[in-house]
Amino acid sequence: MAEVLLRSSVLADLPQIVGLLYDGRQEPSRLEIDTWAEVMSRPDTTVYVAEADGELVACATFLVLANLSYDCRPTGFIEAMRVSGAHRRKGIASRLLLRILDDARRRGCHKIQLLAHKRHADDGAHALYRSVGFEEEAAGFRLYL
Ligand SMILES: CC(C)(COP(=O)(O)OP(=O)(O)OC[C@H]1O[C@@H](n2cnc3c(N)ncnc32)[C@H](O)[C@@H]1OP(=O)(O)O)[C@@H](O)C(=O)NCCC(=O)NCCS
Repeated sequence: MAEVLLRSSVLADLPQIVGLLYDGRQEPSRLEIDTWAEVMSRPDTTVYVAEADGELVACATFLVLANLSYDCRPTGFIEAMRVSGAHRRKGIASRLLLRILDDARRRGCHKIQLLAHKRHADDGAHALYRSVGFEEEAAGFRLYL
């Protein structure tokens, strides 16, 4: 297997990230281009990617939310974790998560949390998060707008 490198994403990654999230689609829409420019400009948001042979094979978004609570320590959130079908079960998601945990510690986060839909209870996603130390401590609430 090619060496897998982890890094934070850059503006030029957008077509490949869209391809990852939408199964091979390479043409970002106008809205995606504008949204990506905003994501790239935000110091509180980092999209980590895994790259193998020049191809992006995984991504995960990390958000650092400033807080007055918790002695003014920020909270980290993880969103949009995806590994391409051909590269699963090779430890890539675990490595991305550990990288994000390092980043969260460096930024002084009090805790890091994420929501994983109940439909992922048996497909490996919940097992993945448990395997790097996450615990099902809180109930997740969601309201679609
Ligand atoms: C869930 C997902 C991110 C896992 O990525 P991955 O790189 O394959 O995960 P890893 O190889 O790092 O797996 C680490 C551990 O998680 C668990 N795990 C991951 N995938 C699993 C699966 N399909 N079945 C059972 N356990 C699984 C295992 O404990 C695994 O350790 P092991 O391989 O030593 O048994 C990937 O399958 C994916 O992108 N799925 C589609 C999108 C998705 O569901 N995202 C998460 C939304 S909350």
